[in-house]
Amino acid sequence: YEKGISELKKRIKSFPNFPKQGILFWDIFSAISDGSTCRLLQSLLVQAVKERYPEVEAIVGLESRGFLFSFSLAAELGLGCIPVRKKGKLPGEVVAYKYDLEYGSDVLEIQKTVHPGLKCLIVDDLIATGGSINAAVQLLKTCGAEVIGCLTVIELESLKGRSNIPEDINIYSLITYD
Ligand code: PRP
Ligand code: MG
Repeated sequence: YEKGISELKKRIKSFPNFPKQGILFWDIFSAISDGSTCRLLQSLLVQAVKERYPEVEAIVGLESRGFLFSFSLAAELGLGCIPVRKKGKLPGEVVAYKYDLEYGSDVLEIQKTVHPGLKCLIVDDLIATGGSINAAVQLLKTCGAEVIGCLTVIELESLKGRSNIPEDINIYSLITYD
């Protein structure tokens, strides 16, 4: 497992000043254009879920890069796959959560059909400020679901995203950068 993690870390590239000046962009897509990296990443994520979140009942993915991992994990584990999407994309009754960005704000939504008590694991590619993950936590709590944790590929530690996510949420990231 540890060998796989360090191999994965070598394969993820960063792009300075994208999408804006001063931002270092960690690009998951450049890594998964390679087939063996897809397989490695999938196997590391599956191992992480089985070891750390064995009680999980549904995988909740954040639009859009989180969807890469939520469906593949859900399919592999035989669990439900639930989307959290940007405003106006989900039909039927939804719950919305608005949160602040550096400039302006964003809204994420979830369908109200999530069962109360469902044991959910949130997945995304990356934690930066933690705003997106926190929004997903709040949406699931509003639906009465149980958030058992949060799994990401990358965590940018210097941005202290964990401080924006409730302390009782068990967060695990495969790879961290300063
Ligand atoms: C990026 C990334 C995470 C989020 C992390 O998504 O994929 O979802 O930002 O940032 P945060 O911890 O500060 O909330 P983005 O909103 O760029 O959209 P995308 O996934 O559709 O590319
Ligand atoms: Mg995203």
